[in-house]
Amino acid sequence: MMSGGGQDYRDFNRASWDERAPAHAASPGYAIERFVADSSFISDVVRFDLPRLGDLTGQRGVHLQCHIGTDTLSLARLGAQMTGVDFSPAALAEARQLAARLGLAVDFVQSDVYDAPTALTASDFDFVFTGIGALCWLPDVRRWARTVSALLRPGGRLFIREGHPVLWSLDDMRQDGLLVIDFPYFERTEPMVFDYPGTYVETDVTFEHNVTHEWNHGLGEIVTALLDAGMQITALEEHDSVPWEALPGMMQRDEQGEWRLAERPWRLPHSYTLQAVRSG
Ligand SMILES: C[S@@+](CC[C@H](N)C(=O)[O-])C[C@H]1O[C@@H](n2cnc3c(N)ncnc32)[C@H](O)[C@@H]1O
Repeated sequence: MMSGGGQDYRDFNRASWDERAPAHAASPGYAIERFVADSSFISDVVRFDLPRLGDLTGQRGVHLQCHIGTDTLSLARLGAQMTGVDFSPAALAEARQLAARLGLAVDFVQSDVYDAPTALTASDFDFVFTGIGALCWLPDVRRWARTVSALLRPGGRLFIREGHPVLWSLDDMRQDGLLVIDFPYFERTEPMVFDYPGTYVETDVTFEHNVTHEWNHGLGEIVTALLDAGMQITALEEHDSVPWEALPGMMQRDEQGEWRLAERPWRLPHSYTLQAVRSG
């Protein structure tokens, strides 16, 4: 999928992430210094799903689109043997630096998601972990599901918590408090092209690479893609909260770091947690 100037969607998106990764590592939102100060600290994202994750001790996990590694390292702190995958060298540099500061042996590998089964030496992981702003960067959810399946041993588990596709379809720039569906809910071949100079955490940094290419994927499309890739769905929960301020000005943050609509949050599925197991 090429755009003007012969650039692939990945070139635009990687340039944007490479610039944002150091700003994210420096932002209070990612709480890097809390990881360093407290050896039992884990990210809010992983903490939210603790009751669903179960005992990870000794399990071999791969975190797709691991960004600066805060969730990957949190899973390592829970006893998993983790590998993180991301296509942004700047994000992986931050992740490796944090792993060194925490004294955790985690492999961070640079690869496009779809190439992960060939980039990694192992393809028999006990679990794949991903989400929180991951699927929207991928044009083809069926290809993603096949990638997940290829990384798992038979009986291995996918664990994803992700922004809900209904949330992704909403206009997030409105000032009038209305929830208006303006973007695709279903996956389309053509990307949504944005030019957004900001990011989702607090920072003073001015960014120059702001054009991104993104896609939505409906919940049924995600489930069907996983079933067709040989995965059995074992859990699917929709939540009335999400771990970032997805609709600025319309949400309130709770003590667990979750954001929900200030007005009648029960109107909107904000995020979901899906678990699936690779069939034998
Ligand atoms: C919103 S972040 C994921 C956030 C993560 N849950 C966190 O907060 O730490 C999205 C990540 O996906 C990565 N990414 C985007 N497209 C990718 C692709 N095609 N292959 C690999 N990584 C990709 C970006 O580099 C970025 O680090």
